[in-house]
Amino acid sequence: MKSHILTLLKSQEDVVSGEILSDALKTSRVSIWKHIRKLQDLGYQIDSSAKGYRLINSPDIPYPWEMIGREDRIHYYPEMSSTMDTACELARKGCPSMTVVIAGRQLNGRGRMDRKWLSDIGGLYFTMVLRPAISPALSAMVNFAASLSLVRTIRDLYDIKAQIRWPNDLLVNGKKLSGMLSEIEASGDIITHINIGIGVNVNNDPSKREPNATSLKFLRGQETSIKQLLTRFLEMFEPFSQNPTDHGVLKQWKKYAVTLGRDVKITTIHEEIEGRAVDVGEHGELILKLADGSTKSVIYGDCFHQ
Ligand code: BTN
Repeated sequence: MKSHILTLLKSQEDVVSGEILSDALKTSRVSIWKHIRKLQDLGYQIDSSAKGYRLINSPDIPYPWEMIGREDRIHYYPEMSSTMDTACELARKGCPSMTVVIAGRQLNGRGRMDRKWLSDIGGLYFTMVLRPAISPALSAMVNFAASLSLVRTIRDLYDIKAQIRWPNDLLVNGKKLSGMLSEIEASGDIITHINIGIGVNVNNDPSKREPNATSLKFLRGQETSIKQLLTRFLEMFEPFSQNPTDHGVLKQWKKYAVTLGRDVKITTIHEEIEGRAVDVGEHGELILKLADGSTKSVIYGDCFHQ
């Protein structure tokens, strides 16, 4: 009903009478009025007069009914613990691939390597539930397809020269704009789901607590639409969601990788490795050339550019 009312209001710059709305939606004018009140409570600026209703402004919030064509798979919460937890519950209950859980802010946002992810209001925080038809050994390719899609989205929409730091951070001028976390469940050789959580600093300012972080607001000097960013990212990523090893993802990803060719330090839970990053293998592993001339592959860790 909300989506129908909004479609009608958006189609007219002028006032739409209660009568037209109630005829079109086959419901009473009182019911229309109640729905309008709900929309106003959700942040829609709707003028209401004796003549009818006029939409003045929509909030920049990715409510399901704003994400046309994917309404049934969008779960938006103004505030939650972590989108990873809710996405995991939905995945275990059998939700379809490309289900997306979005939070306005997170109270317990999680980062890689057991870190916290600052999740103040103004950022984009979401987790996609995916069910790709690939072997668990290739699961990292989903993250590569996601970081490739995000870097392209940001370049296309805002003309910002974002780059990717292995494995999947987006950097602009060496500062972190976005991070990615994945959780996988498999049964033998079959992936039941891979959840990809993405945090993008959009209109929030993480730099006070994280000096090495940046945001779109800082880079562009203006507010950025979270709804538009998420919509374009999902459109860009969806073709990869079934089989992220198709479409030459790795080859494309390498074009935006700022890590390759650089001296790096990788820290894992067990060790620190220094070397030159020379390539990324088909499972997403970073291939390092060490000082003694040998090569070593690392599949997981934090990467610091030296
Ligand atoms: C990192 O760079 O350490 C990964 C950060 C991932 C943050 C996102 S925000 C949405 C999703 N929910 C979380 O709790 N974490 C991920």
